[in-house]
Order: sequence, then structure tokens, then C-alpha cells
Amino acid sequence: MTGPRLPGLALMAAIVAACSPGDDATSDSGPTDAAVIAQGETLYADFCASCHGANLEGEPDWRQRNPDGRLPAPPHDASGHTWHHSDETLFNITKYGTAAFAPEGYETDMAGFEDVMSDEEIRAVLAYIKSEWPEDIREIQSGIE
Ligand code: HEC
Repeated sequence: MTGPRLPGLALMAAIVAACSPGDDATSDSGPTDAAVIAQGETLYADFCASCHGANLEGEPDWRQRNPDGRLPAPPHDASGHTWHHSDETLFNITKYGTAAFAPEGYETDMAGFEDVMSDEEIRAVLAYIKSEWPEDIREIQSGIE
């Protein structure tokens, strides 16, 4: 009985640190540990997959406008342009919807999730999306202001 010793926890921390060389402590993208990513994956399936695809693949022909003039949902994988945006922009689009950042009257199917998810949950979804990107894409995206 020499007080609390948590070798298991320390080891875990070391492993997590070793596994994510691109995620340094200066990143403000929030926690990206396995539990958060798993939570984000569930939220993604519930709230995003119906439009953005179960595997982040987006809608077919997503570059072509629908007959109603609106854009289809783009992929969130490396083939789309989600990774061209900063963490802050991705957070804001998810929270407030695309229309909040477009000229007045812009019509879009991307509504905000402000009333559906907490900020923490939005960050978890984005952490999951990012966890699916190849390392080089993550690196480029993390440098976008
Ligand atoms: C009802 C369909 C629908 C759902 C559900 C939906 N989206 Fe979207 N999303 C869209 C469409 C359509 C666009 C493109 C909007 C535009 O440019 O007008 C879009 C665009 C985006 C963008 C901008 C991507 C880029 O490359 O510019 C982000 C980020 C995004 N969605 C995140 C999410 C997340 C995260 C969820 C789940 C929490 C989600 N969306 C759920 C339809 C949807």
C-alpha cells in the first residue's frame, strides 16, 4: 500500500502518444483518442451517413447540382474537399450549416446540427472523419488556418 500507482495508464498514454505523431499538443482540434473517435463514428452513422455516405464517399456525381439547384453532399474522405478547410470552418459548418457562410438566399441541404449535437459531439464526429484520412492529408489539413 504505497499510494496509487497506475502503470497501466501511463503505458496507455505512451502508446497513444506514439501512435499519433501528427497530433501534437499544439493542435486545437480537440482530443483524438480512440474513445472519442469511436463516439464520433457512431454519431456519424446516425447523423451524417444518410447524405455523406456510410464510408464518407458522398453522393454520386456530387460535383453536379441537383435538379433543384442545390449541391449534393460531397465526400468527407480524401477525394472530397472537406480537408481543404480548417478545423474551425469544419466545426462552424457542422454547427451552423452551410447557409450561414454563404451569400444570402443560398439554398443548401446542409443544415446545422446546433440543436442536435453538443460542441463536444461535433468535435468527435470531425475527429472520426479526420481519423479516416491518410497521414499526408491530415498533415496538410492541420496546417490550414
Ligand atoms: C440532409 C443531408 C445532409 C446531412 C444529414 C449532413 N450533410 Fe453535410 N452536407 C450536405 C450537403 C448537401 C453539403 C454541401 C452543401 C453546399 O455546399 O451547399 C454538405 C456539406 C458539408 C460540409 C462542407 C464540406 C466541404 O467540403 O465544403 C461539412 C463539413 C459537412 N457537410 C459536415 C456534415 C456532418 C459532420 C454531418 C453530420 C453531423 C453532416 N454534414 C450531415 C448534406 C448533408
